This record gives sequence, structure tokens and C-alpha cells, in this order.
Amino acid sequence: MRFHLGVGLTALVGLTSAVSVSKREAGQGTEELVFKHITSPVSHTANVDACNGYSMSDVSTSDHGLTATLQLIGEPCNAYGNDIETLTLKVGYETEDRLHVTIADTEGKQYQVPEDVVQRPKHSRVEKGKAKLRFEFQEQPFSFRVLRVEDEEVLFDTQDSKLIFEDQYLHLATKIPEDANLYGLGQHNDAFKLATNNYTRTLWNRDAFGIPPGSNVYGSHPIYQEHRRSSSSGNYLTHGVALLNSHGMKVDVDDGKLSYNVLGGVLDLYFFAGPKPSRITEQLHEVVGLPVTPPYWGLGLHQCRYGSGDWIEIAQTIANYSEAGIPLETQWTDIDYMDRRAIFSTSPSLYPRQLLKQVIDVLHHNNQHYVVMVDPATAVRDYGAYDRGNDLDVFLKRHDGSGAVHQNVVWPGRAAYPDWFHPNTSQWWVDEFKTFFNKDTGVDIDALWIDMNEPAGFLPYVEANPDRIAQEQDAPPRPPTTRASPYEVPGFPATSPKTKRAGGWAFVNEKLLNGDGSINHDGVSSNLSDFTARTDLTHYGGIREYAVHNLYGLMMSKASREAMLARRPNKKALILTRSTFLGSGRYTSHWHGDNLSTWDHYRWAIRLMLGYSIYGMPMNGGDICGFGGNTTETLCARWAMAAILHPFYRNHNNIDGRPQEFYRWNLTTQAAKRAMDIRYRLLDAYYTAFHHAQTKGTPVVQPLFWNFGQDVETFGVETQYMAMDKILVSPVTDENSTSVHMYLPKDTQWYKFDSWTPVQGQGWTDIENVDYDEVPMHLIGGSILPLRNESAMTTKDVRQKDFVIIVAPDDEGQAKGDLYIDDGESEEVGEQFTYIEMHFNGHHLVVQDDGHYDAAYPVKVDRILFLNQTKQRQVIGTDGAETNYDEESKVLTVTLQSELRPGTRIELQ
Ligand code: GLC
Repeated sequence: MRFHLGVGLTALVGLTSAVSVSKREAGQGTEELVFKHITSPVSHTANVDACNGYSMSDVSTSDHGLTATLQLIGEPCNAYGNDIETLTLKVGYETEDRLHVTIADTEGKQYQVPEDVVQRPKHSRVEKGKAKLRFEFQEQPFSFRVLRVEDEEVLFDTQDSKLIFEDQYLHLATKIPEDANLYGLGQHNDAFKLATNNYTRTLWNRDAFGIPPGSNVYGSHPIYQEHRRSSSSGNYLTHGVALLNSHGMKVDVDDGKLSYNVLGGVLDLYFFAGPKPSRITEQLHEVVGLPVTPPYWGLGLHQCRYGSGDWIEIAQTIANYSEAGIPLETQWTDIDYMDRRAIFSTSPSLYPRQLLKQVIDVLHHNNQHYVVMVDPATAVRDYGAYDRGNDLDVFLKRHDGSGAVHQNVVWPGRAAYPDWFHPNTSQWWVDEFKTFFNKDTGVDIDALWIDMNEPAGFLPYVEANPDRIAQEQDAPPRPPTTRASPYEVPGFPATSPKTKRAGGWAFVNEKLLNGDGSINHDGVSSNLSDFTARTDLTHYGGIREYAVHNLYGLMMSKASREAMLARRPNKKALILTRSTFLGSGRYTSHWHGDNLSTWDHYRWAIRLMLGYSIYGMPMNGGDICGFGGNTTETLCARWAMAAILHPFYRNHNNIDGRPQEFYRWNLTTQAAKRAMDIRYRLLDAYYTAFHHAQTKGTPVVQPLFWNFGQDVETFGVETQYMAMDKILVSPVTDENSTSVHMYLPKDTQWYKFDSWTPVQGQGWTDIENVDYDEVPMHLIGGSILPLRNESAMTTKDVRQKDFVIIVAPDDEGQAKGDLYIDDGESEEVGEQFTYIEMHFNGHHLVVQDDGHYDAAYPVKVDRILFLNQTKQRQVIGTDGAETNYDEESKVLTVTLQSELRPGTRIELQ
């Protein structure tokens, strides 16, 4: 048995340098552990082959599942921790589509993600006989399988490897097809369709400038989808598996096997039956809660730049957008507005409160919006927010039990991290928000941006006496311009922590600090405590940072949502967070972090976005034109077009990069105007898609294969995307190119966007002469798409325009679609909304009777475009409607100028 393959420290082979320690080497029972430099090749391998697994007993079955005891077989192997002798297995058939399997220590000492952080469904169960998945087991040594009942396909099978369950190490592996179509396990910037050989996904949230491929980055979403050909029916069906565990982990995929290597906790596994990929996301939301969705205006154009020197620069940017005729919906301000980068403060000289207020008032007067950033790290300084937090005891304390506040260095210099587990913390946060963001006396934001919540720190490793270092450092007035070289924090040693630690410092329980280096953090098995809060800090309630590090961003998100709703009850709270975990979608939206202004990052923006359709965060997007480095006119223009239907659309860049507001160049001005012209007319369709996200968890953007699951050519497509299951966007992918090599699935009726000419899918297709203010877009046959007939300079004005309804029949002449409208900003709208469903059967366009129509949200239709029609067709029985036929595009236009209400019928003959 090649059980050790890919497990733990063997993964370090070939890497140049890493630090690790093992209790074994240090001698059992020795508290003081020795550091050892590991250089290539690695000689140290934990002896996982000596692990015998568990035997199963006391099996008790019911109609809804089973419970059993798992007993360690033979001697403990103590591979990376201490084997736990007795475990409890629980299997629950929770819904027809969901099976829940937990393996936990019977004593209940291992850490489990708390239900008030990531919710779990209460008392959900279904009779075994009705479930689409089936659990089977083997008693000695214990292993289990999950099968799909419909075709007896074995989806998960642990038989070839033994379960290891230690206090600081869990190992479970399943067989998968050698060439599995595997997706998810993010956040990552690797290929959307994951590699299946010698591939490692590390989940340990970190501040990852440049979002490097091959590395763990800001968020952790231990869920995968596997799209597999059924061996009985030959059809491709998708299933999903989520492991709800907040510890650092490394998922290895190699040689027909997927193995979880987790630094602690319990195995809390959810199996989702799919069988469509978007159903798996909905099934995930049934567990972790439905996602938040943006206000209507949140879908507009956002502009930000880190390094906007003062309020005048902000005002200038807003004016320049207006001058250029590019519809700016929301102006953002980065940490620049703060007083020497302390949260809940404004710089008296650069962003004086009264002048900033005037800027915000002007924005609001013009129906535009304003957002600022808030970091968790609170300046350790003599100022109100820190003092009040300190009085309430909300900050994480030092590891040494001294009770002093733990300090790292973040943007303001010395800074403390709020402990979101402390019962006072969320109240402190809510109160600070109420005061600082007060509508009349404070900074009246419309949405919120939370960052650096991995949590990030600039000190590579906070050494034994961080306060001494920190105290030597005054808050830098203009701190480092980039964290690409995080070692270069003024006043801090420029040496790598690895060198320092190798110098022989001793820590109690080093494993808490580096987790044995076994999860390949940062691609080089860095210390888990690098550039973040030390993993041996203790949160309120005795919870180790080691166990909950990956929850930090999620918990800040939860508190921030509470704070935003306390400010404006029932207003949709748009909150963008950098760090995420499974279930974050319930509280926040997400931008992808610090990408770069390169053509690679331009292409990768799509795969990063598609990942969040699996993780259940529909509102997301990357920094358009790129964050780090210098963009170019052509890159930025192409990006403006490529991102046209990315759910979150924001241009943002770094302090040391060339400014890149769209108005700066001709091509970008043209591109942004054109992109917004199309996007804004589609906003109601998009808002309708978000309505489905909010009510059912349905993703709003999809990889191509989600709609063409039987076409293997689509499985790896990651430079095209579909929005709303209807519109395929296929951007130019290369610099200096004006053509696109794109996949347009065969045997499918498509329509060119805007000219509405029909196109039959031919598979791989080349499109030539794509200008910088163009992006190929295709509407899929079978859809009815509502568009506003004109765009406008604000989303508020767009909402006043009449509709054009596009009826795009499929091969059989049929089409359907829907439209949801409400006030665009309330969380709960009661009966105040309009929802209509429309069907076209080739002869009648019918608005279904059972819709909901609120006259305050009318569907005033200027015209209906019936695509792919013949000249002879006419509309009958609709008073005053005029028809017009365009031979070239085959579009029959019916000018209606009346409302579409439930029950409306329009007949073609
Ligand atoms: C982080 C954020 C980035 C922001 C910067 C300064 O790098 O990811 O978006 O501009 O911090 O606040």
C-alpha cells in the first residue's frame, strides 16, 4: 500500500528549504522541541504506514441513518499527533440529495466549526429509501463508500487507505477516476478544472499578493464538484463533497486518489447528489444558508485606487468620470482616508471630515454611492476606537498568558486583532460603525469593504517578544508602498523568520505554530504563523487560533453585516471581504484580492470568478485592469470588455502602479462606455438572476460545461463564461490580438448579442476583427431576455427606462424567461415586487397568470423582438402594435408600448 504517497512531509521533497519539527525527533514528553532545517531531499517522513486504522462496532441503524463506534486497531502510530482511540461515526440521510457523515472523537474534545458561525440545518432527515445517495461500510478495517442510487456509481470510496484520526492530524482518502473532472477546493488561482496528478491544494488563508497559482490564497472552501461519466448510463452527472473543517489542510490529488490531510478537528462531510453542478451549489446553500445579494446599484461601475492622496483627488476622479461620459456608480476610498491608517478615523489634513462629507453629499445628490475600507487590525495608539475596544477586552491576547494585547504590524504600524469570539467584540464593532459611519455626523457610506482579514500581518513571524519590536516602531506616516516584499517594513528586521527560528528559539508546542509544515503553506511549507496572528494565540473560550484561523474573515464578515444592518435596518448590505470560508456568502460578497496588471491575470479573472459559483458567493469579481503593477491602455480596455458581466465590476489599483481610471486613455474610455451601455441595459436580467440566488442559491455565472455537461470539449473551458445561464461571453485572450478562438457548443441555436442574428453552434470557432470596445457575446436559444431599451449615467435612471423583450427561440421554436423587480435595496420587500414568467411556444408569447404584479414596479414594454422569424409572420389581436421585419437579422419587431402583466398573451401567425 503506497499509503504515504502525497501525505505530509513527503510533499516537501525537492523544495529547497523548510523548517519542521516532530515530537518524535524531539523525544516524547519533551516540551522543548528542536528545530531542524530540512533541505532537499527530505529524509523525514512520518510513518503513516504504521497506522492500522479503526474497527467498527456497536452499529445502530435507523430509517434515517446509522451510528457506530470506531476503535483504533492495535498500537497508535502517532504520525503527526496522538491517535485518538475511540471515535463516533454518524451517518444521516438529511434530504433526498444530501448525505451527512461525521467522524468525531467520542469525547468531543476536537474542535468543530460552531453552528453560529457556519449554520447547519436543524433536524433535517429523510427516509433512507428516498435518498439519492447510499452509505455502505466495511467494518474491519473501517472504510466506507457513498453510491448514487440511480446508477449504483460509487462516488466516494475510502477502502484503499486507512483512516488516521489524531489530535493534530486527520487523514481520509477516496478513490476517484484517474482523469477525474474535478473542480473547486478554493480559493485558488489554478486551472478551473483541477489537475489530477501530483496536485496539492492547501487551504490556509493568507494575504497572497499576486494571487499566485500553485498556492493557498485568501479563502478556504473545502468543497469539490466531480463531473463523472456514469459507467452504466454513459451520461455525465455531477456530485459534490464538502468537508466542514476550519483547520489548515492539504488536499492531495494523485494517481486516482483524493486525500484529505487536515491539521485537526473532526471529519464533517456532506455529500451532494447534484446531478447538475448548479444544483450542488444550491444544495450547499441548504446547509450553510442562502447567499446575500447586492442592491441594484451594486451592479453598477465601481472605481477605486489605493493611493488617492486626498479628498480633492477623489472629487477629481468623480468629476473626470462625469466629464468623460462614463457612468460611475460608486466611488471607493482605500485606507488613504484614515488618520495614519487607523480604522474609524479620518486624516484631518488629507480627508477633513467636512470636506469629505461634501464629496459624499454630492455623490448622493447625483444618485451615486460611496464606500470605504475597514481593516480588522486596530492601531495600538491612544485613540478612541482602540481604547474602547481595549476597555471591552476585545483584542487577542499574547500567547504567553501575560494577558497583554498581542501585537503585529499592519497598515497603521503597531496593531491589535479583534477577537471575534469574544462576546463584546461584535457590540464594539456595531457601536463603532454607528458612530463613525453616522449618516449626519460621520462618513455616510453606502457599502463596506473589509480587507486584511486572513488576518494579515506584516511581520513574517511575531517572535517571542513582539511588543518590544513593535514599540520601537512608530506608526509610519506613509507605510510601505507595497507588500510584495513584506519583509521590508520600516524599522523591522529584514531577515526571514525561518533563519531566525533555526537559530534555536524554543517554543512550547511548536506544532501549534507550524503544524509540522505538513500542509505546504505558501507553496514552501512556510510557518503557519507567518504574516498572520500566531497560531498559538487563544481566543475567548479557550479556542486556539490554530483551529479557527480560516474562520477569521468569515467572523469579521458576520460582525460587519450586523453592524451595517444596525446602521440601516432592512437595507441590502453590500460588503466586500477579502478572506472567506465555506458559508461566507451568507454575510458577504467578495473581490478576489491583489491580482496583477498582466495578460495572465486578465485571463485568470474568469476562473477565479467561476470558482465562487461553486463556493456559493454569487457577487464577486477581480480588480479590473489589474491591481499590482502597471496596466496598459490595451490591457485595460480589453479587461473593461471581458468583465462586462462579472457580477462585481470594479476598477482598482495599487498605490505604486500607474493610475488606471477608465477615462485616462481613449481606448479604455470607449470600452468602458460600451461595456456599461450593454451591462446597464441588462441589469434587470442580472437582478432577476440574483433574486434566484437569494431565494434558492442558484449561481449567477456559470462555466460553459454547466450548461453543456455531455460535451467533453467544454469541461476545461475557462476563458469564456456564461452569465445568467443565457449569455456566453468570449473575450479576446491575448495581447495585440483582435481575434478569439472560442467554443460555441454544437447543435445549439445561438444569437449574436445585439444584432440578434441567429448562429448555429459549430464547436471551436474563430471570430476576427474584435475591436477594443467589443467582446463577443452570444445569447442561447430558448431564452427570453428583458433589456432596458437605453442605458443611463446612473442605475437609478436606468430603472426609469422602458423594456425591450428579446424572444430567442431554440431549435424547436420555444423560449422562456422571467423578470423580477423590486425597490432594488430592501432586504425584505413583502408584497412589493413584480415577478413575471414568460413562455413562447412558437405561436404565443404568454405571461403566466400566477405571477405577482405591483404597479409600482411596472413592466412597460417598448418593443418585443422575436428572433429567427420568417417574413410572413404577423402579430394578431394586439391593438396598436406595429410590426417590422428585418430580413438580414431575421428579427420581427413588435412595437408594443404597453405593459406586460400576468395573463398577457401575444399571438403570432
Ligand atoms: C490590500 C488589498 C488592496 C488594498 C490594499 C491597501 O492589499 O487587497 O485591495 O488596496 O490592501 O488597503
